[in-house]
Amino acid sequence: MNKNKLILQASSNAKGNTYKIVTYLNQDNQFDIIDLSTKNIGHFNYNFENANDDFLPLMEEIIEKYDTIVFATPVYWYSMSGILKVFFDRLSDLLHYKKELGRKLRGKKMAMISNSGENDRRDGFEMPFIESAKYLGMEYLGDTHAFFTENEIDNHAKHNINTLKNKL
Ligand SMILES: Cc1cc2nc3c(=O)[nH]c(=O)nc-3n(C[C@H](O)[C@H](O)[C@H](O)COP(=O)(O)O)c2cc1C
Repeated sequence: MNKNKLILQASSNAKGNTYKIVTYLNQDNQFDIIDLSTKNIGHFNYNFENANDDFLPLMEEIIEKYDTIVFATPVYWYSMSGILKVFFDRLSDLLHYKKELGRKLRGKKMAMISNSGENDRRDGFEMPFIESAKYLGMEYLGDTHAFFTENEIDNHAKHNINTLKNKL
């Protein structure tokens, strides 16, 4: 069966903590997973000099196949990962020369799962996701923060992940 829910893994470590969280969230195989670190996506450029990299084909695939996109990011310097920020910056391409494609994000759903060592994500971390969803006409389904106890996902975090999963 075709899945219509995607997890976009956005860590600098393909098999690190974010991967552990993604694997837990996808225990029953409800999601497709795309690892953004495997894609060649350049920074936003005002002359769209990176227009031929992996970004547009990736967005075409995402927009065609998926209704729900879950961003999975570690906390790096109190923020989303750089990989994910570059991806968000590139959404601006869709507002300029790929408007038709960009409009197709309207009505899709977004969620976010962050992780770090401790349960101490700072207020405001989620704001760019909420506001970006609003700007793009997407529905924001919520987010949670996962964290670890002795290198395993903490039980409270697992509970929070399950609660988020029920909303997706
Ligand atoms: C570049 C970098 C910056 C980080 N900044 C923070 C931070 O600001 N706050 C925090 O709690 N943890 C921070 N950490 C720790 C990571 O959030 C944590 O180890 C996370 O689980 C790593 O996930 P990953 O294995 O997918 O990279 C940072 C780690 C790295 C590599």
